[in-house]
Amino acid sequence: MKTIPRKALMPLLLSALSPLLAFAGQGVEVNHLGTRNSQARISGQDRYVMLPVQESAADARINVIADGKVQETIFVRLAQDRTDYAVPFDLAPYAGRKVLLDVLFPDPAVSVDSRRENVCWQDIAVSDSFDTTNREKFRPAYHHTPLWGWMNDPNGMFYKDGVWHLYYQHNPYCSKWQNMNWGHSSSTDLIHWRHHPEAIAPSALGTVFSGCAVTDPDNTAGFGSGAVVAMYTSAGESQMQSLSSSNDGGETFSFYEGNPVLTLESEARDPKIFTRGDDGRWRMILAHPLDHEMLIFSSADLKDWTLESSFGKGLGAQDGVWECPDLFPLPVDGTDEQKWVLLCNINPGGPFGGSGTQYFIGDFDGKTFRADRDAQGNVPTKWLDYGKDHYATVTWSGAPDGRRTAIGWMSNWQYAADVPTRQFRSANTLPREISLFRAPDGEIYAASAPSPETAALRGKLFCKSASKALGSRPLRFGLPSDGLAEIEVAIDGGDAADITLTLQNAQGEKAVMVYDPKAHTFSFDRRESGDVSFSQDFPAVTVAPTREDSGRTSLRIFIDRASVEVFGDAGRYAMTNLLFPSSPYTTLSLSAKGGKAKMNSLKIWKIRVN
Ligand code: FRU
Repeated sequence: MKTIPRKALMPLLLSALSPLLAFAGQGVEVNHLGTRNSQARISGQDRYVMLPVQESAADARINVIADGKVQETIFVRLAQDRTDYAVPFDLAPYAGRKVLLDVLFPDPAVSVDSRRENVCWQDIAVSDSFDTTNREKFRPAYHHTPLWGWMNDPNGMFYKDGVWHLYYQHNPYCSKWQNMNWGHSSSTDLIHWRHHPEAIAPSALGTVFSGCAVTDPDNTAGFGSGAVVAMYTSAGESQMQSLSSSNDGGETFSFYEGNPVLTLESEARDPKIFTRGDDGRWRMILAHPLDHEMLIFSSADLKDWTLESSFGKGLGAQDGVWECPDLFPLPVDGTDEQKWVLLCNINPGGPFGGSGTQYFIGDFDGKTFRADRDAQGNVPTKWLDYGKDHYATVTWSGAPDGRRTAIGWMSNWQYAADVPTRQFRSANTLPREISLFRAPDGEIYAASAPSPETAALRGKLFCKSASKALGSRPLRFGLPSDGLAEIEVAIDGGDAADITLTLQNAQGEKAVMVYDPKAHTFSFDRRESGDVSFSQDFPAVTVAPTREDSGRTSLRIFIDRASVEVFGDAGRYAMTNLLFPSSPYTTLSLSAKGGKAKMNSLKIWKIRVN
């Protein structure tokens, strides 16, 4: 039996687990029961057990036992020969009880002695605190990220009483996908996020996959008037739909005892309750991923669901699975025409490989969605964002003033687990307002513009330039030294063939953007933007149609530590790309080729972070 005294742990932890950990430990007793099975007995009053993680290790299954029962099961890449970082397992729910972690490794060690040598047994510790300070080089300064651990899709977003709630697919036990919980953040301005405890944890039905949340003012579900009702996929042996409800405004949730509320005979996930009709019935859209279709259901009480229709077979991009749907009405700008937008995230098969958000414009009669056809009679494939890092985008329910506010996961399944971060992996995009416009080709498209709240990010005006001619000799402007900026620039393509905007750092790493005023396209090349080595799918050039016929465009470009978001012409085209430069980009240069162009105006703002 081995007790690790606090004193002996100090130097070890400081070297191996810093900067993630500050601690005041008690004991952890470790016993080995063979080559695959070990146990750690936790005692004392500390808040956390710090679990040492090695990202390249395989997941060990940990049964958390208290009162003689398995209370929960988690999967953790326990460190074998090196601790990359430690993650906190929260003991608060077990206060006053004895806890035993029963660990089963996927493969046997050569001998019990070699199992004993795994560094996790030296580095496991108890602690009263966990340091989540934002100090990684690529940790965004102004985008939403989890404090630690892995994040994918935004989930359950609802707005109530001035607060924007944002839940997300979260693995609190490693910065790679596993153990899906709903993490929770909230904001009063969509920019500054408060982090809350985990909102919904796995149940006996499975881990908690993506879904939505609505408030239920009329108590249709019987969880209480004004209850927040979350509907999500329980992912166990199969995928099924479950409810959890909250009577404290979305802070804590109770699992509904009648779960699952909806089962199908094949994979189905990511329910989005999108409206309550005049008939008082709720409407919900559900992904039927492998069938490349979305299913629409209705219900009077959020528990008993009736299939109304399906949409999508054979339409749009069909290459990957269909996931994370949304469906909502919007006016077409400048008219009183109303159209419905069906968001359909697909992976793979996005416009530049991997993940992407396609959408359909059409009509919804309360039961069925029908997509508009173009002049040739086809249903065109449309993309909400033309970068590589925009996925699982859905909108807030209950947003004020008729707003249709969306947020997306700023990554791509091709390499999300490999990007060069550590304490956390993945951020969300800036919040965006979706609207509809009719483009010169006669088609209706969705624009995706930065939410008005992003104006608060503008700090000091760092640089301002009046109108200047653009030719082959580049105009150069400095960027704020912390690399955080919003650039607003208006370009008149004149008779030039293309206009190039380059962000560059001292190492010569660069992101190169090209506006082609004749082809009406905008492209973004990140092949030499910094570290692109972690995945062969990362180096890429992405291209957007600009949907203008004027040869002019104006851009808002948001640069954070590891991302650039470009919004053209108030979001008529949007492009989101991750980048990992060795140091911040310090210059912006502009030039034109094949003729003369004009920069009508330029403003560069520093970003106000607090
Ligand atoms: C999309 C997705 C969803 C699923 C979730 C699991 O990124 O695959 O369909 O609910 O991630 O984390």
